[in-house]
Amino acid sequence: MSRLAGKHAIITGAGRGIGKAIAQKFLQEGAEVAICDLVQGRLEQAATDLEKHGDVHAFAGDVADQRFCDALVTQTLDRFGQLDILVNNAGIGYFKPFLTHSETEWDETMAVNLKSMFLLGQRAARVMKEQGEGGVILNMASTNGHAGEQQLAAYNASKAGVILLTKTMAAELGPYGIRVNCVSPGFILTELAREAGADEAYIAAYTEKIPLKRYGTPEDVANLYAFLASEEASFISGVSVIIDGGQLAEG
Ligand SMILES: NC(=O)c1ccc[n+]([C@@H]2O[C@H](COP(=O)([O-])OP(=O)(O)OC[C@H]3O[C@@H](n4cnc5c(N)ncnc54)[C@H](O)[C@@H]3O)[C@@H](O)[C@H]2O)c1
Repeated sequence: MSRLAGKHAIITGAGRGIGKAIAQKFLQEGAEVAICDLVQGRLEQAATDLEKHGDVHAFAGDVADQRFCDALVTQTLDRFGQLDILVNNAGIGYFKPFLTHSETEWDETMAVNLKSMFLLGQRAARVMKEQGEGGVILNMASTNGHAGEQQLAAYNASKAGVILLTKTMAAELGPYGIRVNCVSPGFILTELAREAGADEAYIAAYTEKIPLKRYGTPEDVANLYAFLASEEASFISGVSVIIDGGQLAEG
């Protein structure tokens, strides 16, 4: 399929995991893609892997830094001449008991997971408004933005913030033809989950709680992003689409 032919997208945090899978899917759907990541080596490897699927440009930097957000949008426009889709995917999480969660960890989580989406979303939306052809902004939330999970206070709060930021952006940007939605994945097995301690016993116990009895893959989530970015979703705006194998369906 080439549902994104002629479209130009920015995808943040695409050095690995879900962001990289979204970049691959978008390239396969015909888009030109700018990817960014904080980790230079990871980004370079991703760009090399993705090049066989299409035209990809890589920019290293921190999405919580306003100057990098400005530069990312400017450089993407220099390369593509147009910006149609922004995917705010980059995110981090600290597993810490509430009683010992530090202020530094709170601030960093909010900056990367929430402030970056405001900064890049605002800059991308200004460009899209100026272009006059509408656009699509997709923010990465989480089931943790819908229901809290222990030891993730800052992460949960940041993802709940993403959901309301998304709704506000959708309401204000709709008149310019800009659709804004967020995606709320449940348990997706990525390097992040492995680093957070998801060993085989944890995975088995967790998937037992999921009605579909499996964890999600980055490709499951990328397929949803491609649909939401495409014209097939042209009347969908201001929602959080949960992709969790049915986990939140049970109390
Ligand atoms: N894996 C899951 O189960 C799951 C579930 C729900 C939501 N999510 C969300 O999906 C997104 C991607 O998660 P993932 O599992 O692929 O994680 P990941 O750690 O595998 O990938 C995230 C990428 O973002 C990059 N990144 C981190 N901080 C950055 C910054 N300040 N600037 C630029 N890049 C930065 C990292 O270097 C990394 O390459 C995150 O927002 C996460 O909260 C993940």
